[in-house]
Amino acid sequence: MTKVTAPAIRDRKGGPKIAMVTAYDFPGAMIADRAGMDIILIGDSVANVVHGMETTLEIGIDEIVLHTRAVKRAKPNALVVADMPWLSFHLGRDDAVRNAGRLVREGGAEAVKLEGGRKRLPVIEAILDAEIPVMGHVGLTPQSVHAMGGFKVQGKVVDAAREMIDDAKALSDAGCFSIVVEGVPDILGELITKEVDAPTIGIGAGSMTDGQVLVFHDVLGLGSGNYPKFVRPYAHLAEDAVAALESFKSDIQKGTFPGEDESYHVPDEIASELLKDV
Ligand code: KIV
Repeated sequence: MTKVTAPAIRDRKGGPKIAMVTAYDFPGAMIADRAGMDIILIGDSVANVVHGMETTLEIGIDEIVLHTRAVKRAKPNALVVADMPWLSFHLGRDDAVRNAGRLVREGGAEAVKLEGGRKRLPVIEAILDAEIPVMGHVGLTPQSVHAMGGFKVQGKVVDAAREMIDDAKALSDAGCFSIVVEGVPDILGELITKEVDAPTIGIGAGSMTDGQVLVFHDVLGLGSGNYPKFVRPYAHLAEDAVAALESFKSDIQKGTFPGEDESYHVPDEIASELLKDV
């Protein structure tokens, strides 16, 4: 399998559809890559699903670097994209390039993703100028939770929808190799996809985008069970894990774990010699 690159993703406009999933650690990246995902995103959603934080505003660049390094150790064939967390690209172009550079140099990321539309063009251009591929992200951008007044579907009125299309066009024209479109009505997901040259990757944006992304723990049913409307859990691993641990506990209590095959042994003569002492 040839290594997936940012230019190869840019060339996927119109198909075949792009499959992206988040992963935050070595085993997650191994699983995602074995399944043939095109892109692994070290999303700032790690704040919620791994660290149990309320919002993604609580996670910083050091943690994303650490999780990116863990993912890279799996040597994925998939493109490895690291999320730029809140405040890692809001304090000026130099700071943004330095932080994107940390994700590449220390984490091993092959591209970065950052939230926002035209307002973020100066930093996107600066990061691209440092030869780091950038994935855009418009729509329901969780880092804007307070500004949006909660996690709400975006672009439901005509003016806001048109603004979002213009944002996405600007990101594409600036050179973003793809754009995540999150939490918008399906018609807007379709319109943005038709209007921009860069491939769109939807999450809660309907079926007409050039690809789809979901959070690892949501696809596998590893979360609390309260999934948003757009999630389809393809497995129920949290239930499986609880059942497995219940069996483990029961076997411990019954004394049936470990068995003979799961124990180390010495030859009979050594055992007899040792038993003489007791
Ligand atoms: O952080 C994340 O997981 C994301 C995806 C939902 C696109 O940004």
